[in-house]
This record gives sequence, C-alpha cells and structure tokens, in this order.
Amino acid sequence: MQASSVEIRKVNKFYGPFHALKDIDLSIPPGKVTCLIGPSGSGKSTLLRCMNFLEEYDSGEVRIDGQLIGYDAPGKRMSGRKLREMRRSIGMVFQQFNLWPHMTAHENVAEGLIRVRGLSKADAMTRAADALAKVGLADKMGNHPSRLSGGQQQRVAIARAIAMEPKLMLFDEPTSALDPELVGEVLNVMKTLASEGMTMVVVTHEMGFAAHVADQVAFLEKGELVDVDTPSGILHHPKDARIQSFLRTYHERNSF
Ligand SMILES: Nc1ncnc2c1ncn2[C@@H]1O[C@H](COP(=O)(O)OP(=O)(O)OP(=O)(O)O)[C@@H](O)[C@H]1O
Ligand SMILES: [Mg+2]
Repeated sequence: MQASSVEIRKVNKFYGPFHALKDIDLSIPPGKVTCLIGPSGSGKSTLLRCMNFLEEYDSGEVRIDGQLIGYDAPGKRMSGRKLREMRRSIGMVFQQFNLWPHMTAHENVAEGLIRVRGLSKADAMTRAADALAKVGLADKMGNHPSRLSGGQQQRVAIARAIAMEPKLMLFDEPTSALDPELVGEVLNVMKTLASEGMTMVVVTHEMGFAAHVADQVAFLEKGELVDVDTPSGILHHPKDARIQSFLRTYHERNSF
C-alpha cells in the first residue's frame, strides 16, 4: 500500500479574531497512526480538516508528500481542479456517517467510484463489494442504511473511503456517535487498516485505541500543540500539567 506523509509547519488558523490554531508543527510519518487528543474546543477537528484543506489555514504550510495543499505558493490559492486532484488520495471519515438513505450499502460505496473516478457501473460494484468484504459486511451489501446498525453504517463509510484507494485516511471521532457495544467493531476495522500500513490521523476520545494502536499521540489544548510523543509518553508519563489534568478528568469520567 502506498502511504503518504504529512508535514505541518507553523500553521495558524483564525476564526475572525479567535486564534484557533497557534503555530502548529507536526510530522505525520507514512504508514503510521497518529492520534490527536485534547479537550473539547482545543482545535483537533480544525487541524485535521486543514490536512485536506476542508479548512483554510491562514499562515504556515501543510504538505502532503512534500506538496503544499491548498496553495501553489504561500498566499497563492491553488486551483479547484488541482485541489480536487490532491484530495483524491485522502479519505475522510466523520462522526456522522453521511450515507445516502435511498441507496444500499453496496450502492453507497460504488457511487463515488462511478461519479468521481469514472469507473463503469460493473467495475465500481465489484470494487465496492471488495471494500465491503474488507470491513466485514459482505453479507449486508444489499441493506439500506436504515437497516444497518450504527457500527455497520460507520463501516460502510470506511469502506466508501478505502474503495477510493487513499494514501492517507483522516478520522474525526469515528466512534463517538455509536453505542458503546458497537465501538469495538469499528476500531477493529481501523486496526486492520493500520496494520496494512495506511497512514492514519485519528481524532479520538478512545484512549484505549490511542494507547494500543497509535504510533504517536499529539495533545492539543486551546489551539496549541502541547506535546507529541509515543502513546506511553503522553498517556502514562505525561510531562505537561495540562495533559495530566486532562487524563485525570478522563479517568474520573470513565471509572465507576
Ligand atoms: N466555523 C467556526 N467559526 C468560529 N469558531 C469556530 C468555528 N469552528 C470551530 N470554531 C472554534 O474553534 C475552536 C476549535 O474547534 P474544533 O472544532 O477544532 O475543536 P475540537 O478540538 O475538535 O473540539 P471537540 O472535541 O468538541 O470536537 C473552538 O473553540 C470552536 O468554537
Ligand atoms: Mg472536533
């Protein structure tokens, strides 16, 4: 599998006067899993969305495999066509699955292959079936989203992304809309993708996933990247008081 790297250098992002990302520096190595964690409102989604330019950044650089995304040169916006071309290799999975309600799982996955990739319907359906088998849904392909559980719907959304053969996958809290008993099946699919060498950036509240699957964990607070380290460095030996305080609150909420 081809895997992308992402280099983020001195990225700043403002919403009006509000400074949402402050001089962020982060290297996402190819074929590795990077988890972004931190309190609500710390800028995790904003940073993730800068990586495929769903969110414009105001200064600094985001490079995918060395190529600046969003701009041809600092301050000079890239054409829509070039941006779409770069985004072809980037998959994204959100908290909400965003499936078409009137299409089966199979059609949901095939749709982008036909419309965006220009595959014939037959080729798209074959590739979609492979992607659905990979996420363990070979037997549910004919179901509409209303006849799938939340965990199954999210796996269809992952299949839809991987069918496009991305080199980078961005996940924004993919399990936080799910009932607790359905979280594991989605995390397992993500673990499989990770073990195949996909570059993954995952915003998550699942500290277990960050601890066991991530290669590195980045902690954000108030738009600042406080620390990046191994999972054990951040989760078991945090040096910064802000991370210690976040983890204390997390453990209080998750113990009973
Ligand atoms: N479109 C917007 N306009 C103004 N402010 C925004 C906008 N989007 C986000 N923000 C602000 O930017 C900050 C970072 O938001 P972001 O969504 O990146 O946080 P987050 O870390 O993903 O939080 P959560 O864990 O709740 O999803 C927040 O304070 C938020 O209120
Ligand atoms: Mg968010």
